Amino acid sequence: MLRPMPFRAKTAPAPLFPVGGPVPAEDLVGREGYLRAASARLLDGGHILVSGPRRIGKTSIILETLRRLKRRGALVAYVDCLGPTDIRGLGERLADAVLENVTGVERAFAQVRAVAAGARPTVKLRYEHVELALELAREKNAQRFFEGALDLPRHVAQRTGKRVAVALDEFQAAGRLGPRVFDVMRTRFQAQRGVAYAFLGSEEGVIEELFTQKGRALFRFAVPLDLTDAGGHRFGIDPADWLVYLRAKLATRKIAIGDADIDQILDATGGHPQDTMQLCAALYYLMREAGLRTSSGELVAVAYEQALRELERPFSQHWAELGGAKYLQQVAKRIAHGAVLYAADAGGGAVPRSEVLRALEALRTRGLVLRLGRGRYDFVEPMFGEYVRRLDGVTGTPTAKPQAR
Ligand SMILES: Nc1ncnc2c1ncn2[C@@H]1O[C@H](COP(=O)(O)OP(=O)(O)O)[C@@H](O)[C@H]1O
Ligand SMILES: [Mg+2]
Repeated sequence: MLRPMPFRAKTAPAPLFPVGGPVPAEDLVGREGYLRAASARLLDGGHILVSGPRRIGKTSIILETLRRLKRRGALVAYVDCLGPTDIRGLGERLADAVLENVTGVERAFAQVRAVAAGARPTVKLRYEHVELALELAREKNAQRFFEGALDLPRHVAQRTGKRVAVALDEFQAAGRLGPRVFDVMRTRFQAQRGVAYAFLGSEEGVIEELFTQKGRALFRFAVPLDLTDAGGHRFGIDPADWLVYLRAKLATRKIAIGDADIDQILDATGGHPQDTMQLCAALYYLMREAGLRTSSGELVAVAYEQALRELERPFSQHWAELGGAKYLQQVAKRIAHGAVLYAADAGGGAVPRSEVLRALEALRTRGLVLRLGRGRYDFVEPMFGEYVRRLDGVTGTPTAKPQAR
């Protein structure tokens, strides 16, 4: 006979510095102003656009925004557009997310479909809820199904009298599901009273064009809330907020860190959210394993090397993406090495001047590089710059230590 376990398996404790996915509210450094602005807009029924490169905290921000809205009585739905492979799939995810609010049941739409096919509703799923999506569940035609799903938030808003906020993450990916997806969305969304949309995108060029260029499907449909330059700080996070957070976090493990070490960390990462967390996580583990209680510049330098290794995966992905367009990698290397940008035959072979300009512009719209002055560019993310510098294994470049900026 099976006996009850002597103790319940606990869920793993949260890491001190979470890295790689959305973080809980307490680890969301320096975004309070942004969270307030986003929540206020959505509560008022306004649509917002949150665009920016990957790994800077877009998803974390929107999930916390939705948690806040929920506490204030709104209904909320979060959909990641990267998952589904066709418009029906996207529609189903949206339906699941919207229905979960009212039913409290995960994957509620699948259950509604079962009911539509003749099964009896489960105890949890009340008929009034099933009714909301019953017709949709019977729809065979993919296009009509998609449109019906897009109308579901409005039905729920009407039925409940509550504000509904829908976040569509990695929104640019929805465009790959069909030729007129964005047009259909615009048509369905614009008449929806009571529903506020947050669009998140990580391919800045694509997303901004869609919302800011005349004639594009979502022209002026949502207000862009700038994430990367809020308050004039790179990545929009005040270094003072990092300082307070890092001190307090490490103090919970009885580790002390001086201002100079924190400055060194932020110099090395440029304050990039994930890179900073990665470096701090590495520093913490390093110190824990060595039983150390006080940080130092040398420890930060060792942690930097470790963090750079751990970031290899996202960095190689960024790098591979640059390989998809002509000259981007070549020009990126020139920037990384501080080489003359326009030299027709600098490292990596000849690149015509007009192509250099085009590549610089492309790197800029991708949020990867920024212009410092005439002919001077740098990587927005210093650690990615360092990654690129080391790709050739070139000796003689300063690679051993994080560079002072
Ligand atoms: N405000 C922040 N404070 C601390 N860490 C952050 C912050 N924003 C992002 N991060 C770090 O970046 C990682 C990725 O965040 P995520 O929200 O998934 O970014 P995005 O959606 O832009 O790709 C998180 O796991 C965390 O390590
Ligand atoms: Mg994200």
